[in-house]
Amino acid sequence: MRKNDYLPLFETKLAKGRTLFLLFVTTIFFGIFSIVVYRTSYIPSKEEGSRRFAWIGLFLAELWFSLYWFITLVIRWNPVYRYTFKDRLSLRYEEVLPSVDIFVCTADPTAEPPSMVVNTVLSVMAYDYPPEKLSVYLSDDGCSDLTFYAMFEALRFSKEWLPFCRKFGVEPRSPEAYFQRANSQPLGGDAAKANEWTSIKKLYEDMKTRIESTNKAGQISEEIRKQHKGFREWDSVSSRRDHQTILQILIDGRDPKAVDSEGKPLPTLVYLAREKKPHFHHNFKAGAMNALIRVSSRISNSPIILNVDCDMYSNNSEAVRDAMCFFLDEENGHEIAFVQFPQKFENISKNDIYGSSLRVIMEVELRGIDGNGGPCYIGTGCFHRRESLSGKKCIEATKVDLKNKNRYRKTEENADVLEETSKALASCDYEENTHWGKEMGLMYGCVVEDILTGLVIQCRGWRSVYFCPERKGFLGAAPTTLLQTLVQQKRWTKGDFQIFLSRYCPLWHGYNKIPLRLQLSYLAYSLWPVNCFASLYYAIVPSLCLLQGISLFPQMSNLWAVPFFYVFVGNRVYSLVELLSCGGTLQEWLNDQRMWLFKRTTSYFFAFFDYILKLLGFTESAFTLTSKVVDDDVYKRYEQEIIEFGTTSPMFTILTTVAFLNVFGFCWGVKRLILGEQSLVLNPFALQAILSGLLVFINLPIYQAIFLRKDKGRMPASVTYQSIMFTLAACSVALY
Ligand SMILES: *[C@@H]1O[C@H](CO)[C@@H](O)[C@H](O)[C@H]1NC(C)=O
Ligand SMILES: *[C@@H]1O[C@H](CO)[C@@H](O)[C@H](O)[C@H]1NC(C)=O
Repeated sequence: MRKNDYLPLFETKLAKGRTLFLLFVTTIFFGIFSIVVYRTSYIPSKEEGSRRFAWIGLFLAELWFSLYWFITLVIRWNPVYRYTFKDRLSLRYEEVLPSVDIFVCTADPTAEPPSMVVNTVLSVMAYDYPPEKLSVYLSDDGCSDLTFYAMFEALRFSKEWLPFCRKFGVEPRSPEAYFQRANSQPLGGDAAKANEWTSIKKLYEDMKTRIESTNKAGQISEEIRKQHKGFREWDSVSSRRDHQTILQILIDGRDPKAVDSEGKPLPTLVYLAREKKPHFHHNFKAGAMNALIRVSSRISNSPIILNVDCDMYSNNSEAVRDAMCFFLDEENGHEIAFVQFPQKFENISKNDIYGSSLRVIMEVELRGIDGNGGPCYIGTGCFHRRESLSGKKCIEATKVDLKNKNRYRKTEENADVLEETSKALASCDYEENTHWGKEMGLMYGCVVEDILTGLVIQCRGWRSVYFCPERKGFLGAAPTTLLQTLVQQKRWTKGDFQIFLSRYCPLWHGYNKIPLRLQLSYLAYSLWPVNCFASLYYAIVPSLCLLQGISLFPQMSNLWAVPFFYVFVGNRVYSLVELLSCGGTLQEWLNDQRMWLFKRTTSYFFAFFDYILKLLGFTESAFTLTSKVVDDDVYKRYEQEIIEFGTTSPMFTILTTVAFLNVFGFCWGVKRLILGEQSLVLNPFALQAILSGLLVFINLPIYQAIFLRKDKGRMPASVTYQSIMFTLAACSVALY
């Protein structure tokens, strides 16, 4: 019996089918073992110089794959599923629910249009939670009066939108997403309701039009500027990299006049553009989050903080209650530092052509990492305990009673005074000689500040929880071109690798602080870039060896061919079953395999060298590529699942070169099979030719983009020429 006889607020279930999994793993293990035995006992003699060389390289690649397989196995060892009991939460704690500060971060009004930011903000303002206990903070690193204007519009629209959501149980509560859904229309056919629906839709569309036309004009009209004192702040802004702190409390939840159209209280709404000065490093999103942590501690100081990206709207108005079930659980709640929700994306094409839904990571791997000790923090859709972000160890924390912990702000201060006194907390020099970014708040100096921060928090003894229900809490937008996807992947890869080589390496920073299996789980991502070598080797060398007539695999009739076959096919089938079981399609799996290859040969490769170049003191931007704005044409191809090339990029050169090499290898291989004296099963080149054939098959869209396509997304001729040159160079090296 639990110590206080309460039924728990959440429960954790283990995954089923573990015996089957164990059986499969054991057979694969024996397969790998046999491959190692084969590779070591048949090493070519010194006379066969180049064959020996290629053989040893292939063996090293296989050893690497085995090691990495082991790590991915650790992740899959013990997945857990979490369930919450919101009814029990309401019964016990409805009156004393803790308040929540919600941080939305935006950085650039062009890449992140204000109309999108408004929708995210409205969706989180409308949570099914006592509004006087919610405070929404927008951090605008773009320091744009257009974004501020959009917030001003949101403030007015929320007065109608929140009552509407309450009354009709609207879902999702982002107006754009709600009105886009065809079936959201009639609300039961009642004429009065339909009227209300139509009028609120019109209100929304008018607002959207105003925001978009202001955005197009690029400036705020004089008429609008008169309506709020905040606009005057921009008179002294010289550029987005050099300006004073702008802090505006748009809705002061404490003010009795801050009510919606039904007289109910509104959530607090705050706009913040922290101070920027050219000679101060602003530490990107981590810096913005830390400024928000400080400013909010002065204004509302809620014990729970939710952080979302500006493109991730809330798709479930009950998500805050779900999170509270973890934090308020009597037995385990006190040691939970953060509750991570999955990142789920809209705008995923039918078969997820770029693998950008991260389906396996979100549905399988993070659950496994949760079972191993707690998921990592992935930067958005995450509820934090404020105390854990302040650098306290779990055992040192005061374990403040979250219940009934509401805003405790000095009431004599009105909003204007509060604005003035809080500004200093967001100034550039505030953090000098403090622990911010090192021990307090989000960590600085890493491209993936979220992962690092989560790791450090876990190492202080806190737990974390992954909550991934059927209906997702947050929906965002995924990259919609190949280059964007690869570049995004490169950034993540580089950041994770940076953690691995820093003093926060999970292996030794986490030693004795987090379980070994959690340390290993972190490695799965930290070691991404190292994968590029084994993958490139496997994708190139066997094909080149076909040209030269070097065989590297056993004949098909040979018993040693069985483990190669089994390990390869077994793992592919496993990944297929895994993807299908979390809702994927066969075509999606094929796309995923292709992206697996593409990412490993480009993103990981460039991430590795980017990092090494940085260590050697070269500028980081050596390989940095900018993603372009997606136009209608590009979007149409994305929806039709035609891979987008269209620009020159060293990444595409690598992909094309690998694709050409495989075609050559495959043709030579087929020639050897046909002209060879032995039958297919006896031919020493059969397995190698099959490997090349598979690579050619997976690369088919590249040949198509080079030779068949006429649209703007085809492979640029310059990339093709470069690749042909590289291919010929590689072939001549191999042949002579
Ligand atoms: C996402 O998809 C919808 C329709 O499928 C489209 O209207 C919208 O513009 C897309 N958003 C982005 C950011 O691509
Ligand atoms: C988003 O919420 C709607 C209900 O409003 C639900 O039908 C849908 O499945 C949710 N989307 C995801 C991806 O969970």
